[in-house]
Amino acid sequence: MKKIVLSGIRPTGQLHLGNYLGALCNFVKMQQEGIYDSYFFIADLHALTTNPDPALLHENVRNVVAEYLAAGLEPDKSTIFVQSDVPEVSELYLLLNMHVGIGELMRTAAFKDKARKALGITTAPSADDDADMAKEIIGAQSNKRVNAGLLTYPTLMAVDILIQRANFVPVGKDQEQHLELTRRFARRFNAFYKVDYFEEPQNFNFGNAAVKVPGLDGSGKMGKSEGNCLYLADDEKTLRKKVMRAVTDAGPTEPNQPMAEPVQNLFTILKLVAPQELVQQFTDAYNDCSIRYGDLKKALADHIVALTTPIRERIIDIKNDDAYLARVLRQGAEQARERASATLRDVREIMGITPFWK
Ligand code: TYM
Repeated sequence: MKKIVLSGIRPTGQLHLGNYLGALCNFVKMQQEGIYDSYFFIADLHALTTNPDPALLHENVRNVVAEYLAAGLEPDKSTIFVQSDVPEVSELYLLLNMHVGIGELMRTAAFKDKARKALGITTAPSADDDADMAKEIIGAQSNKRVNAGLLTYPTLMAVDILIQRANFVPVGKDQEQHLELTRRFARRFNAFYKVDYFEEPQNFNFGNAAVKVPGLDGSGKMGKSEGNCLYLADDEKTLRKKVMRAVTDAGPTEPNQPMAEPVQNLFTILKLVAPQELVQQFTDAYNDCSIRYGDLKKALADHIVALTTPIRERIIDIKNDDAYLARVLRQGAEQARERASATLRDVREIMGITPFWK
């Protein structure tokens, strides 16, 4: 039996270098290994948690499918599908929610972060943050702003994974807490019903730690809502401009001086896109104070452009080929539903939801 690989990306805009280096490039590598049964999807139901414009959502699904294919996913090697094309996911989401605590969901870092933003809370989290947040969320003002879907986001993600009985889930560092919750829900389900049904899925990055791609604006991670993204679809000129504008410092003044965060960030990305020798060369130059950040940025831009240009060139052609996209997604939906419906049947039975007219 082949091990199952599954991962997804929300269609909230074009894919950026964080999505690619943290997740998508591993989807492609795992597919190419040929030893896994792979499922890669577009998490459109998850995108609904931020109430997108319907027409825009539809276009963004198209974008992500095209970007998956342009990056190297192949429908004959991987099952490529849209989450909402598998209605079994929504039913299992309802069933699994019966075993998920509101408290544990409210303490999830991603939820707190998004809820804080929606509520306009800008103060740093305090020791009483959980209690304060609960008060804010229950307050009449916030009823609409923090929706229940945002709270139960981890249940839906766990269902995506568990419904395909996935073993490996290649994701970036920011998704690890969600994966931990998935394992907890799987254990809890097994224990409650005294079954050995769900296996616990693991992150996968070819033996390396999960990746966090930083932004080039000094701190934090690269993210759509941070407005600091290098997009796969950006043209060469745009990419170079963005990289050359990256925040740095005045440069090292003493040998082997510790790196400030913005400089470290440039090195973090360089390590992910350039050969080890080049990284070493710039590290040595930093350590002996001879580094010129302009050269570092230029080398970084060269490698990013080399990586993304072939992908960008394919995106446009694929995006406009409606018939091809339809074929890929129909086939993907059929394959994904096959496994999902088998799991749902089992889970219903385990939980005692069985029809009387069998
Ligand atoms: P999403 O759409 O936010 O991001 C998609 C993938 O990109 C990774 N990523 C990053 N990795 C490194 N550095 C960054 N700066 C960076 N930004 C994004 C994310 O870690 C992720 O792997 N909840 C998920 C989507 C999802 C999912 C699933 C994933 C829904 N169901 C089931 C796996 C399995 C999300 O919002 O990812």
